[in-house]
Amino acid sequence: MILVTGGAGFIGANFVIDWLAATGEPVVNLDKLTYAGNLGNLAPLEGDARHVFVRGDIGDPALVPQLLATHRPRAVVNFAAESHVDRSIHGPAAFIETNVAATFRLLESVRGYCAALDGAARERFRFLQVSTDEVYGSLGPQDPAFSETTAYAPNSPYSASKAASDHLVRAWHHTYGLPALTTNCSNNYGPRQFPEKLIPLMIVNALAGKPLPVYGDGANVRDWLYVGDHCGAIRAVLERGRPGEVYNVGGGAEMRNIDVVKAICATLARLAPGRDYAAQIEFVRDRPGHDRRYAIDARKIGRELGWSPAETFATGLERTVRWYLDNAQWLASVQSGDYQRWIAQQYATSPAAAD
Ligand code: NAD
Ligand code: DAU
Repeated sequence: MILVTGGAGFIGANFVIDWLAATGEPVVNLDKLTYAGNLGNLAPLEGDARHVFVRGDIGDPALVPQLLATHRPRAVVNFAAESHVDRSIHGPAAFIETNVAATFRLLESVRGYCAALDGAARERFRFLQVSTDEVYGSLGPQDPAFSETTAYAPNSPYSASKAASDHLVRAWHHTYGLPALTTNCSNNYGPRQFPEKLIPLMIVNALAGKPLPVYGDGANVRDWLYVGDHCGAIRAVLERGRPGEVYNVGGGAEMRNIDVVKAICATLARLAPGRDYAAQIEFVRDRPGHDRRYAIDARKIGRELGWSPAETFATGLERTVRWYLDNAQWLASVQSGDYQRWIAQQYATSPAAAD
């Protein structure tokens, strides 16, 4: 079996569901259930004995060794993190605590477990750190895409904390021989993404008749990857990746934010007609330190592990919008009082033109 951390969040939950469908191998799922974690994300696995959920912190120095000793996983896949850039700007402390300090404690727990394994089990064991392209900083319009050798240059508290955890993972491999792998992936979208991130926020606001807040001039570029393709990449790295290596994962789908928002409006106009969604677009004050462009060079994982994305942005967006339209109850359940407070705080300022 494998131990997945953060498996009640967006990518982690999709990964666990896909993993069980693809491999059938049991999963222990350790998640703290922060505001971003939601057992409703795991509803398709209700009653499935192959999935064991444990509520807890990756930084708990008693719980994690006990889980490892009890379940004896052949791999640990670490999704657990604070993940939203805007929240990291308002409150960086939680990002340092989870993405740096708790990740360090997780590495120590895993190091202890791995060291006590017998030869064959130790040879087979893997630790996979799920990271982000944001650690590489921001690209100019003509710059080549981020490769695995691009220097780290994180710009936000979130990306700095993820860069720190990547460095810890690298050092634990280099110094202690922990058989660790790291993936640096571009922007994900798809079912079960918390509606604080661009694509689900726009879908939710569009359907509610609320403004669609585009930061700055809307020309920031992201490289979008459907979440199911990210899950497939992680399975490939876990099975065939070489310990100590880094693999960049991306969708080859660079788009300006304003074009993403317009594509969402056009998809909604087809699937849920009745409103001029694009008329709800508003340009608002920019994110401080907003990275201009991300793009991933994913040739290494293609060449070495034979991975490439199955979805285009058009097909992935269609699936995503349909999922949100079909899951109104999920959507209502995640828009709690805390969510409303976050939205009120983050979007309190008026449109950019009024600044
Ligand atoms: P998310 O915020 O949706 O989920 C994070 C999950 O981790 C939540 O379920 C939360 O409860 C859990 N968690 C947080 N702190 C924890 C702790 N201390 N112990 C145990 N569980 C804890 O995030 P996501 O978008 O699913 O991202 C998952 C991972 O992938 C993160 O490491 C993120 O940096 C990385 N990543 C995300 C993207 C993206 O576009 N969303 C792209 C590349 C990489
Ligand atoms: O690149 C990978 C990263 O992608 C992950 O590591 C992060 O966990 C994930 O949150 C994501 O970070 P971004 O900051 O790129 O994603 P977000 O969805 O917050 O924003 C995408 C773009 O849209 C970004 O340029 C900011 C812009 N934006 C976002 C929001 C929430 C808006 O214009 N308006 C908004 O309301």
